[in-house]
Amino acid sequence: MDKGLLDKVKKRRTFAIISHPDAGKTTITEQMLLFGGVIRSAGTVKARKTGHYATSDWMEIEKKRGISVTSSVMQFEYQGKRINILDTPGHQDFSEDTYRTLMAVDSAVMVIDSAKGIEPQTKKLFKVVKQRGIPIFTFMNKLDRDGRPPLDLIAELEDLLGIEGVAMDWPIGSGQTLKGLYDIANNRVELYRKNGKDRFLPLDKNGKLPDSEPLSKDPQFKETLDEVDLIKGAGNKFDLNKIALGDQTPVFFGSALTNFGVETFLNSFVNLAPSPESHTVNGDEELSPEDPEFSGFVFKIQANMNPHHRDRIAFVRVGSGEFKKGLDVTLARTGKPIRLNNATEFMSSERVQVSDAVAGDIVGLYDTGNFQIGDSIYAGKRKVVYPPLPEFTPELFVRVTAKNVMKQKSFHKGMKQLVQEGAIQLYRNYQTNEYILGAVGQLQFEVFKFRMKNEYNSDVEMTSLGHRVARWIDPDQLDPAMSNSRNLLVKDRYGNPLFLFENQFAERFFHDKYPKVKLTEKL
Ligand code: G4P
Repeated sequence: MDKGLLDKVKKRRTFAIISHPDAGKTTITEQMLLFGGVIRSAGTVKARKTGHYATSDWMEIEKKRGISVTSSVMQFEYQGKRINILDTPGHQDFSEDTYRTLMAVDSAVMVIDSAKGIEPQTKKLFKVVKQRGIPIFTFMNKLDRDGRPPLDLIAELEDLLGIEGVAMDWPIGSGQTLKGLYDIANNRVELYRKNGKDRFLPLDKNGKLPDSEPLSKDPQFKETLDEVDLIKGAGNKFDLNKIALGDQTPVFFGSALTNFGVETFLNSFVNLAPSPESHTVNGDEELSPEDPEFSGFVFKIQANMNPHHRDRIAFVRVGSGEFKKGLDVTLARTGKPIRLNNATEFMSSERVQVSDAVAGDIVGLYDTGNFQIGDSIYAGKRKVVYPPLPEFTPELFVRVTAKNVMKQKSFHKGMKQLVQEGAIQLYRNYQTNEYILGAVGQLQFEVFKFRMKNEYNSDVEMTSLGHRVARWIDPDQLDPAMSNSRNLLVKDRYGNPLFLFENQFAERFFHDKYPKVKLTEKL
């Protein structure tokens, strides 16, 4: 065993932040980058975030894409650990990439707006993370504003997400009356609006403040003590095994904007979050992250939108061994040997050439068309095949045709390649064979249209079918007469039949009409 490699792997913390737009993901990421010394002042990341752009304004998208390539992975050192934050875009750029990125992390941080509680996008992303059985850490944000009672927020985790919440700290007041945090894990109080070491007040062994401390007499502090007693007595008990499996989430409170509670959270997080673990490869073999032979898998491919540089970057999550420039690997799908000369490592502000990367790290490989999403690559003689990445059920659908009927060839070529790459999902109308595309976010369609034109010289026409509920049906139970005006019968790219229902009512109506027919949601 290479001790050097083991030490490096143990230092890695690779995670993504899941949240609903506006909960504060960018703000907390920025605070972490400040702690990591990557940026020097708040507002840096924010200024680069172009915010809400018109989806039709390509220039804006291009700008955004240019930025998102470099900020797709942010890497920094903190407390002797190497932190990799993988970006999971929200808003219009929510796409299958967002979900797939969650396949490449070892833990997740869930940021919740404490005034709003759990919102739809958080729920969707949570579901994906939960299936992976990896640790999830929760940060209840915006405590400087009036929010929901903390007990309610913890209860909601269990009620809506089915995960136990275990409080690591507890607010003293909230909004206008916010005084600080009762830090259960570190047995101290963190005062709000104080800087430096002065902001921490140690608690005695009974968890109380000395009488000489004015806060000890504050009615709000007394209320906090009562609540802390309650959760210590009747609340969930901190359980590392449950946390490791994603059955329990440590909950932290704070305000990212005012940098309150973030450091406490980050310190606990780097201690509790796991370093990279073994992967099951080749069906049933355990592959240790400290295995000396390099291997990894492609979880995302990003095409550079600049028409003058038609390069693409394949994002590889390293699963074992050490990546070095010039490494010779084999692409498992085709058996093709590839020399990895041109790789990039990601920093928040720029791309730098990668020197070495170990399990947990992400390397970006310049791709000239070799890679597909889900591909495994490995060095050495032992073939390594990572499990296939799951497919995610689209919710948005369009009918697509070539504008110019004379250019069917390039249309079909582009369609085939982009679908293979995993950029979009393709369906065919069961009866007419028309092409239908499915995506989880609107931007996927925009990007598809742009790439068809720029890379395949094919203008496409899209007609929106809007939001639809996709449900697969057992072919043996299928009767084409089941298709009506409120559902569309299509087949996926493997030929499996499914219905695209207009909405959930249409699905329920179908269910009432054909109670014996089993419909399944892929995920
Ligand atoms: P996102 O990446 O999850 O979409 O959220 P982002 O960090 O962009 O935050 C969304 C809004 O919430 C921003 O305000 C941000 O300043 C604010 N915010 C984030 N954390 C906190 C917090 O702890 N307390 C309070 N009060 N606000 C917070 P905005 O007005 O939309 O943007 P900006 O104009 O301030 O940049």
